[in-house]
Amino acid sequence: MTDIVWHQGTVSREDREKLLGQRGCVVWLTGLSGCGKSTIANELDRLLTSAGRATMLLDGDNIRHGLCAPPAMLAGEHGDAFAERFGLGFGEIDREENIRRIGSVAALMASAGLITLTAFVSPYRRDRDRARKIVEAAGEKGDFLEVFVDTPLEVCEKRDPKGLYKKARAGEIKNFTGISDPYESPADPEIHLRGGDDRTPTEQAQEIFDFLAGPGRR
Ligand code: PPS
Repeated sequence: MTDIVWHQGTVSREDREKLLGQRGCVVWLTGLSGCGKSTIANELDRLLTSAGRATMLLDGDNIRHGLCAPPAMLAGEHGDAFAERFGLGFGEIDREENIRRIGSVAALMASAGLITLTAFVSPYRRDRDRARKIVEAAGEKGDFLEVFVDTPLEVCEKRDPKGLYKKARAGEIKNFTGISDPYESPADPEIHLRGGDDRTPTEQAQEIFDFLAGPGRR
């Protein structure tokens, strides 16, 4: 327990959503590096924006340039002690904190009424489940949609858009998901996009778009 008490704001979530004419939610894309998360999320962002929806996209590589920067990026300005304490790498605990921070930020954005898209490897089931809990606690059940971008490792490794798999195989990157670190597949995702199903990222994004526009959703 702490002495910190939640302060209820004057403007409610419902007020904000009414202004935007939509329900805020979080669309959480998870999958291996190179599986297509960012491309699909960007396509979905474009589809939603074109349809007049207010969105925000949180992408792994970008968030790791700021909110969840690695120690090496923080040391220059803040010093080594700060960088070591608050900088995040790719060890299990660092990933846990990465996903905790992003889950919290995504919940805030959903509370502002935004359709919040996230694209993170988020390899641990427990961490994704916690993110779901944070988002649902700020709203209601159904506000968090897990999207498994299920592209096989061989396909991701063949694509290797940033040359990271090559480096990981050579032992130059430690804790690389799929190579030297685990990826725990979602047990029951709201949407399961199978790699190698010959659809384009736009078609896969359209499936998520249709789900969002489907019955029972606002
Ligand atoms: S995580 O697991 O959710 O905390 O990772 P995330 O914040 O999404 O960052 C993943 C991107 O960082 C690059 N990268 C790595 N990925 C996985 N494992 C290791 N060790 C690693 N080191 C760097 C990589 O470019 C990931 O981006 P994507 O877009 O997924 O390829």
